[in-house]
Parts: sequence; C-alpha cells; structure tokens
Amino acid sequence: MIDEIKKKTIVGNWKMHTTAAAARDLAEGIVDGLIDEEGVSIILCPPYPYLAVVGEVLKETRIALGAQNMYPQMEGAFTGEVSPTMLLDVGCKYVILGHSERRHKLGESNEFINDKVKVALAAGLDVILCVGETLEQRKANQTEALLDRQLSLGLANVEPDTLSRISIAYEPVWAIGNPSHHATPQQAEEAHAVLRARFGRIFGKDAAKQISIQYGGSVVPGDAAALLSRPGIDGALIGGASLVVNDFLEIVRSAIAETEAQPA
Ligand code: PGA
Repeated sequence: MIDEIKKKTIVGNWKMHTTAAAARDLAEGIVDGLIDEEGVSIILCPPYPYLAVVGEVLKETRIALGAQNMYPQMEGAFTGEVSPTMLLDVGCKYVILGHSERRHKLGESNEFINDKVKVALAAGLDVILCVGETLEQRKANQTEALLDRQLSLGLANVEPDTLSRISIAYEPVWAIGNPSHHATPQQAEEAHAVLRARFGRIFGKDAAKQISIQYGGSVVPGDAAALLSRPGIDGALIGGASLVVNDFLEIVRSAIAETEAQPA
C-alpha cells in the first residue's frame, strides 16, 4: 500500500559537524527512536570521515547512507578529493550535489555540478541535486529564471533511464541556517511547482510526476507538517535540526503522517 503512494523523503545533512563518537551516537539515537519507518525514506549524510562509522550503525536498517559531495572522477591524482567508487565502497547509496554552500562558498559552477551528477549516476549513486536562489535574486524577481537555469544545466545530458535515481532539493540560499527567515509553505510550494514544470519540459510529464522534490532551509519540527502537507513538497533536507535526535525524529514522524494522509 505504502509503496503505491509517493513516500516522503527526509535527508539529514550533518554538514561539517560531529566527531566520530557524536556521529555514532546521533545515528544510534535515530535508529533506536524509529518504530515504523515504512512510510518514509530516510537518508543520513555525515561528513566523509564518519561515513563508515555511521554506515555500520545503519546496516540492517531501512535508513540509507549518503555523502555531502564527491569529485567527478573514479580515481586519480586529485589530492584531497573523494570518488564515487569510494563512496559506494563505504556503503553510500546517495550523494548530495550542488549544495548552496558549495556553490557560493566554494565557487562550484553549474557545469562542474553537472559533471558530478553524470559521473555519480554512471557509477551507481543516486543523486540529490540542490538548487535555490539568493535573497537578491528573489528580490529582483529572478527566482524562476535561476531555478530554470540551475535545473537544466545541472541535469544537462543526463540519461533518461537514470531519472528515477535523481531527486531535487529546493534550498533557497536566504533560508538556510536562518530559522527566523525561512520560506513559507506557500513560497516553497510555488518554487516546487516551477521546478516540476521545468523538469516536465525537459523530461516529460510522467517523469515530472515521479520526481521527488524536497524542501530545505531551516526546517524545524514545528513547521515540518505545514511544509510537508503542501502539494508537490515530497520531503525535506534538514541541516541544523538533523543534529538533534528528537528534532530529527519529530520531523520524520511528520513525514510518515503526511505520507499516510495522501489519497491512495
Ligand atoms: P538548515 O540547512 O536546515 O540548517 O537550514 C539545510 C541545508 O543547507 O541543507
């Protein structure tokens, strides 16, 4: 039954936080706190050095392991970088690509992100592609054009048979790490509709219906239900609140409730 409807997806992006011990505790707390996670897909994305530690805790559970980034080569002389094969080797199923902190603080371009998307998919990783406008772009009414651009360039030349392994995270830059200024459910719903329409123009209506689009930007337990109940909001990518076991679990429970509330 649950498989016939679209499950909500909740991603925990731990960014550059935790230690090995804290990462293990956090993952164990989440695993232990879940009773029925059938109605939701959960992905935890710890920092690279703790992927194996967290992967060990998640073994035999329904929670998947994801990485926060990767380099678009299988191996080679790329000092300090991590390849998709390495991520698969430590048990990752997912990789987040194009996160706004990488675009804006580390200067990643749409072209570089597109390379990563294609290499990740070819290697066998599922991709969560992040897109989102800055406050200046929103104020200048450029949100739609920007989302169009990030989506179409980020997914350029992606093989149609890999579409089911891609999801999108709409993360307005102005709303990230900023609980006093996050997007309203209405703003998120509108942006998701823009992204879904654009996705449909590129890959067709069926693919647009299937694609999972998550919202990210200061989601806290108190607003999760309001966001996740909106049409077209298929999940959430959580930063700050994913570092607190009870907050993350509360958001997961909202997602399960919203999945179950969908018409069969
Ligand atoms: P935040 O982070 O929930 O702390 O705003 C979300 C993200 O950047 O992935």
